Amino acid sequence: MAKQKIKLSKEKETLLVPLYCKACECEKEKPIIKDEKAKEIIERVEYNFTELDVPNKTCVTLNIRANKLDEYVNQYIISHKNPTIIHLGCGLDNRYGRIKDKNINFYDLDYQEVIELKKNFYQENENYHFISSSVTDLDWINEVGEKPNVLIVAEGLFMYIAEEELKKLFNTLQEQWLNAHLIFDAYSKYTVKNIDKHASIRKTGAEIKWGIDDPQEIEDWNDNIKLVEEWYFTDYQQTEKLSPLYKLAFKAAGLFKMAKKAHRILYYEFKENEVEGNDST
Ligand SMILES: C[S@@+](CC[C@H](N)C(=O)[O-])C[C@H]1O[C@@H](n2cnc3c(N)ncnc32)[C@H](O)[C@@H]1O
Repeated sequence: MAKQKIKLSKEKETLLVPLYCKACECEKEKPIIKDEKAKEIIERVEYNFTELDVPNKTCVTLNIRANKLDEYVNQYIISHKNPTIIHLGCGLDNRYGRIKDKNINFYDLDYQEVIELKKNFYQENENYHFISSSVTDLDWINEVGEKPNVLIVAEGLFMYIAEEELKKLFNTLQEQWLNAHLIFDAYSKYTVKNIDKHASIRKTGAEIKWGIDDPQEIEDWNDNIKLVEEWYFTDYQQTEKLSPLYKLAFKAAGLFKMAKKAHRILYYEFKENEVEGNDST
C-alpha cells in the first residue's frame, strides 16, 4: 500500500515529535506509555523522522507528559457523571484509544489539515468526534455545546499561542462550561527564550509564543479560574521505567526550581461566576 505523504509545516509538523516518541517507546521492555497506534502510523507515513533529530530527553519528557495526562483524564472520567473530554491540538495522538472507559463524549480538535490527515488512521463514532478548527476561532465551542462535566486537555499546544489569544480563549471556555477542568503543559519564560536551540522545533520552523513562570497569574486573568496543581516531570513516580542516567538527571533537576519549572503540567478548575452583591457576611 502506498504510504501517506506528510506535508505539514510549523506548529502542525510538531505533532510528529510526540508521535515518534511514542512509537519508539513501544520497543522498550518497560515503556512509559504503550501505544501501538503510534507505531502503526509511523510505519504508514512517508516522512524522514531522522530529520527531526528528536533528543532522547525530549522523548522521555513527552512520553511522561502523555502518560500523566492520560491518568488525569481517566481519573476525571471515574469521578464525574456523563463526562465530556475536549482534547485541543490533538495531532495524531490516540488518547481516545488509550483511555479506559470509551463510553463518554470525546472531542479531538485540531486544524482542518491535521484532522483530514487524522481521518486516515482513526474513525469517529457516536462518542468520538473530530472538530476541524483553530482553537482560537471560538465558534468550535458551539460544536460541543452545553455539557454538564467537561474536562479540557491541551498537550503541547498553548506554547504556540500568544497570551492575548489565550486569555480570550480561557475566559470564553470558563463562561461556556462553568465547572470545567482545564489541564495543559506550559513552558517557563526562560524555556521560551531558549527554545530555538531545540533541534526538532528548529526543523519544523514552529514559533513558540507563550510561557509562564507563576501559574497563579492565570487566576488574575479570570477570578473564576483556580489553580489546582502544578505537576513537575521530576514528580514522576515510576522511576523504574527510566534509565539510571535519567533517574539521576530527574533527581538533580528536582532540586532546582528553574529546572522543574522549565516545562510542567498545570491543572485548573473553573468556578461558577459569583453573583454580584451576594455577600452573606
Ligand atoms: C506538539 S503537537 C502536539 C500534538 C498532540 N497533542 C500530541 O501530544 O501528540 C501541537 C499540535 O497543536 C496543533 N495546534 C497548534 N496551534 C493550533 C491552533 N491554533 N489550533 C488548533 N490546533 C493547533 C498542531 O496542529 C499540532 O497538532
